[in-house]
Amino acid sequence: MNFARVFSGNNPDNIKKAAELLREGGVVAFPTETVYGLGADAFNSKAVCRVFEIKKRPSFDPLIVHVCDKDSVQKLWKQVPPLAKQLMDTFWPGPLTLVLPKTDLVPDVVTSGLDTVAVRMPKHPVALKLIELLANPIAAPSANLFGYTSPTSASHVKEDLGASVDAVLDGGDCEVGVESTVVKIEKDGLVLLRPGGITKEQLEKIAPVKIFSGQASSPESPGLIESHYAPWTPFFVLDKKFEIFLKGAEKMVQAYQIQKGRPPRMGFLAFGPKADMPLFESVEVLSAKEDLYEAASTLFQAIRKLDKMNLDMIIAESVPEKGIGLAIMDRLKRASAGKTIEGVLC
Ligand code: TXA
Ligand code: MG
Repeated sequence: MNFARVFSGNNPDNIKKAAELLREGGVVAFPTETVYGLGADAFNSKAVCRVFEIKKRPSFDPLIVHVCDKDSVQKLWKQVPPLAKQLMDTFWPGPLTLVLPKTDLVPDVVTSGLDTVAVRMPKHPVALKLIELLANPIAAPSANLFGYTSPTSASHVKEDLGASVDAVLDGGDCEVGVESTVVKIEKDGLVLLRPGGITKEQLEKIAPVKIFSGQASSPESPGLIESHYAPWTPFFVLDKKFEIFLKGAEKMVQAYQIQKGRPPRMGFLAFGPKADMPLFESVEVLSAKEDLYEAASTLFQAIRKLDKMNLDMIIAESVPEKGIGLAIMDRLKRASAGKTIEGVLC
């Protein structure tokens, strides 16, 4: 490789080089509108295996296959039911991943041996051009180490994966900031496997939506493990109003001080602006106007920022579980593996 490992996606020559790398069986990180993906040629099993190795991803967790046009699904799915067509027409290109029975062309390593494959058409122009130039679909999980916070900028990818990828295409900060919504298409409607950029309310305008209620890591939804998207710093979600938490917080800090001989160094991940925050060493505000879309787009970046500060803990404020707020809360709950601050310190 004789070009910079991170190179600009604004330059068409760089996208061409990245496509060549993929054609030779390389692994390239690339921008999408949701988060950065770690891509390999979906029809090259050996290259796809490298994606699992680089990410340290367990082999039971299947990848999403990315296409640059709607026709490409013909090669990937056995059949394209009318409901799938309608969803593709409404939400593609965009943050919606559809799961349907796969053809024999899709290697088993991509789907972790499942007989279904997850497909989406991303919206980012660099991603679309890369897939088009490769002339094959790209299998790609998020470009972070397995279990860690997802990357929403090229520098996040570099920090996480360093020299292990063949190249990183820089397409700027991701617009949506949380991953795509993953739905399984069934005869009588949709099963929401992972909330994401397309909201449950948007899907419900098209078909009935059931929220997946099976076991995490089950064969139906292998990637839904309880702890995910997690920073290294102990991470807790506030399950009460911030003002109520503050009333009891002094006591909590005193208890910590007695136990450890010093007050805790705490970071706060706030949905909106907060006035009085002396307890916290650092506060990250997701959206000054408490806009859920803006909060989604800044979420992972804010978590990563706090995670770099060597804090004793990060406390995250809950957001309303409506619209894209459902995806934000899903990520917060998984990042905390279900731990609330009350459960640990009070
Ligand atoms: O926005 C996104 O979806 C990003 C960008 C890069 O496209 N990708 C992403 O991939 O988030 P990943 O691998 O981090 O998450 C994919 C999710 C996992 O929860 C996985 O288990 C699920 O999709 N999945 C993939 N194939 C599946 C299948 N056949 N059946 C059920 N779930 C599947
Ligand atoms: Mg991921």
